[in-house]
Amino acid sequence: MATVSPSTSVLDVIRSRRSVPRLKPDPVPRELIAQLLDAAVWAPNHRLTEPWKFFVLAGQSKRRFAEIRRDFRRTQLPNPDAAEVQAALEKVYRDAAETPVIIAVTSHVADDPEQREEDFWATYGAAYAFMLGAWSHGLGTYFRTGALRDYPPFRQLLGLPPDHRIIGVIYAGYPVEVPQRRRTPAAEKTVWLE
Ligand SMILES: Cc1cc2nc3c(=O)[nH]c(=O)nc-3n(C[C@H](O)[C@H](O)[C@H](O)COP(=O)(O)O)c2cc1C
Repeated sequence: MATVSPSTSVLDVIRSRRSVPRLKPDPVPRELIAQLLDAAVWAPNHRLTEPWKFFVLAGQSKRRFAEIRRDFRRTQLPNPDAAEVQAALEKVYRDAAETPVIIAVTSHVADDPEQREEDFWATYGAAYAFMLGAWSHGLGTYFRTGALRDYPPFRQLLGLPPDHRIIGVIYAGYPVEVPQRRRTPAAEKTVWLE
C-alpha cells in the first residue's frame, strides 16, 4: 500500500494520493481536520472572493446525511420498495454513517457568470488542497458529486441560502487499502509550442 511519511515530497503526495473508497472506522482528530481546512483556504482564488464554506458533519448530522443519501437513492429507483433493493439501500446509509469524516463543500453562486465559474474552480481547488494535505497525513479521502448536491433535503440539512451551492462531499478517514489507478503520461497530453 502506498504510504506517505513526513519526508515525502509534495510531488510524491500529488502522485500517490488516490480516492480511497474503503476507510477504517477509527476517529480522525478534529484538530487535524481544522488544520487541513486552514491550509485548504490558501487555494488560489481570483479576486479573493473566498466563496467556500465547509460543513463538517458529525454525530446526528452525519446520520441525517446518511438518511438523506439513502432517500435520494430511493428516488432514483424504479421500484424502491422492492425487497431485493433494501439491502443495497441500507448499504448506502451505512457507507455514509460509518465514514469517520464527511465534509460538504459549498460555494457562493455569484450573479456574474464568469465569477461564478471561477468561484467553483477555486472551491474545488480548496477541496483538492484539503485532499492533498489529508494524504500527507496518511488520511484517505474521496470526493463525490452527483445530483445529490442539489437535493433539497441535503441543502436543508446545511441551512444553505439560495445563493450557495454544494460543490461536492469529501469522505475522509484512514484507509483500509489504497486502490491503484492509472494515468496517461503527461507527455501524451502536453503540447510544447515554440
Ligand atoms: C469534480 C470531481 C467529481 C467527482 N465525483 C465523483 C463521484 O460523484 N463519485 C465517485 O465515485 N467519484 C467521484 N470523483 C472521484 C473520481 O472518480 C476519482 O478521482 C477518479 O476515479 C480517479 O481516481 P484517483 O482520485 O484515485 O486518482 C470525482 C472527482 C472529481 C475531480
